[in-house]
Amino acid sequence: MCGIVGYIGHRQAYHILINGLKRLEYRGYDSAGISLLNNKPSIYKCKGKVGDLESIVIGNDISGSIGVGHTRWATHGEPSDTNAHPHISQEGHFIAVHNGIIENYSRLKKRLGDRGYEFRTETDTEVLVNLIEYIYLKGQVSAEMAVRLALTKVEGAYGLVVLSPDEPDKIIAARNSSPLVIGIGEKEYFIASDATPIVEFTKSVIYLNDDDVAIIKRNELTLKTIGNDKLEPKVHTLNLEIGEIDKNGYDHFMLKEIFEQPRSILDTFRGRVNPNREEVHLGGLYNVMPDLVNARRIIIIACGTSWHAGLVGEYLFEDMARIPVEVEYASEFRYRNPIINKDDIVIAISQSGETADTLAAVKLASDLGAMVLGICNVAGSSIPRATHAGVYTHAGPEIGVASTKAFTAQVTVLAMMAILLGKRRNFITDKEYVALIKELYEIPGKIEKILNYNDEFKRIADLYKNATNFLYLGRGYCFPVALEGALKLKEISYIHAEGYPAAEMKHGPIALIDEKMPVIVIAPKDKTYDKIVSNIQEIKARKGIVIAVVNEGDEVIKEMADHVLEIPETDTVFSTLLTVIPLQLLSYHIAVMRGCNVDQPRNLAKSVTVE
Ligand code: G6P
Repeated sequence: MCGIVGYIGHRQAYHILINGLKRLEYRGYDSAGISLLNNKPSIYKCKGKVGDLESIVIGNDISGSIGVGHTRWATHGEPSDTNAHPHISQEGHFIAVHNGIIENYSRLKKRLGDRGYEFRTETDTEVLVNLIEYIYLKGQVSAEMAVRLALTKVEGAYGLVVLSPDEPDKIIAARNSSPLVIGIGEKEYFIASDATPIVEFTKSVIYLNDDDVAIIKRNELTLKTIGNDKLEPKVHTLNLEIGEIDKNGYDHFMLKEIFEQPRSILDTFRGRVNPNREEVHLGGLYNVMPDLVNARRIIIIACGTSWHAGLVGEYLFEDMARIPVEVEYASEFRYRNPIINKDDIVIAISQSGETADTLAAVKLASDLGAMVLGICNVAGSSIPRATHAGVYTHAGPEIGVASTKAFTAQVTVLAMMAILLGKRRNFITDKEYVALIKELYEIPGKIEKILNYNDEFKRIADLYKNATNFLYLGRGYCFPVALEGALKLKEISYIHAEGYPAAEMKHGPIALIDEKMPVIVIAPKDKTYDKIVSNIQEIKARKGIVIAVVNEGDEVIKEMADHVLEIPETDTVFSTLLTVIPLQLLSYHIAVMRGCNVDQPRNLAKSVTVE
């Protein structure tokens, strides 16, 4: 959700903060602000993007070697200049930026109101910063203690960074459920919601855990619990290169990430599979293999695109390992009364590793006694740290809000797991195993081939860019791709789109079909091919426009459809890795042609750290 950045050291903070906010803008972009501490504090903030913030700052004093910045995705209070962070307390003793939600903020607000506090904004953060100040003044305590005591009164999630002009040599940072990373430099520290603003300065980082409070001075960092117990900071080394978070000449991060997929998929399986080796090697699962092999049921929990990858996982595990699978929206799972049996395995899928609902579902499943595994992209994020074991996807940083390469990397990991379990459970023979692994090695090259058809996809996008509705249909492995294709289109172009299992079309969506309705049919040659050919005929009989994703050389569907998007053939179990690519590109081009901000679609955020 929101992005937080902070700096304390010997350099001027302003440019570090602004550049950091630009790197974090994918987390939220409805308003932005910074505060710098010099002789006296300055705060600049406004509705809009970081670029707007830069324009309002021109001509003002931007000196100071300590400061914080924030880019917001609104929860409490509409996006406005006033509601933008940082927030300053009534008497000016504290300045705070915050990511998360203070759930008991209205009760706290009332109590502070009774004690003379007046509120200028509609945010929960203003309540928190005033609570800190109230405790500080009333209790005559240090800034650090006021922060810690205030946090004991707070219910909810926070990544919080606080400055106090009264103690201008330090930054106080605290975390509960909303991530914060601290970068360690030479007599300087960098604080951020994720490592992207930090990596150009240092690779040594500390990830805060829930209930941690860091008191950061220029040459000293103290880590404590909220209850004042001292902790030993654990320093990690970032496995991230600065080049990975630049656009590298592409117009948008999304396009770059779509084109990166041959490499990101290769990175995901490289070193883990090899036709000459007996088995898929997933080091992160080594200790839990007996549980996995003997699992009676797998429950997959995820949100958004990761949930679609989970649906592909259901087909993969059932097909190759013969294990029953249930795929749950994390937000539903956590508020039901889920039944977890002794031999169940829960798998959480998350690109960011920070999605609040998925993280809460992980904790619930773990509390109920389940063995919980993670499939995540961001190393060191909260979900991998809360799970018993897991597999990283190695797709590299995904910055575009609409997920693309993370999806194919997640499917690649699920496929590797299913092959591994299939082999161990004797549902896959050695011969089949070798054939599957050989085919997996072919996938990056086949994606390259699809990417070469980009101009054709762009031409078709131009024909339908003004449509108001799209229907996406698929069967079997192509059904989750239909959902994902529809999600991509609505996320970035704001066109209404629905994904459906093709046979279900007859139970409702067929009523929508007319000569204005583009229907994307995902129809590679698999066991339901003939059925989907019949579905195409049903659409054509109602004058619908058919755009079909087909295998190269498919003359049958070419005859019937208005347009075809061609892909090479592959084994059915890997088909999603290919069929999704034309749909990603189609959505991308339509959104660009409609003038939409592809990397920062309205109302969305990359990492959803509130429920
Ligand atoms: C947000 C993002 C989606 C993503 C979903 C789940 O909605 O915009 O792209 O699929 O969160 O995120 P996760 O990081 O858990 O995969």
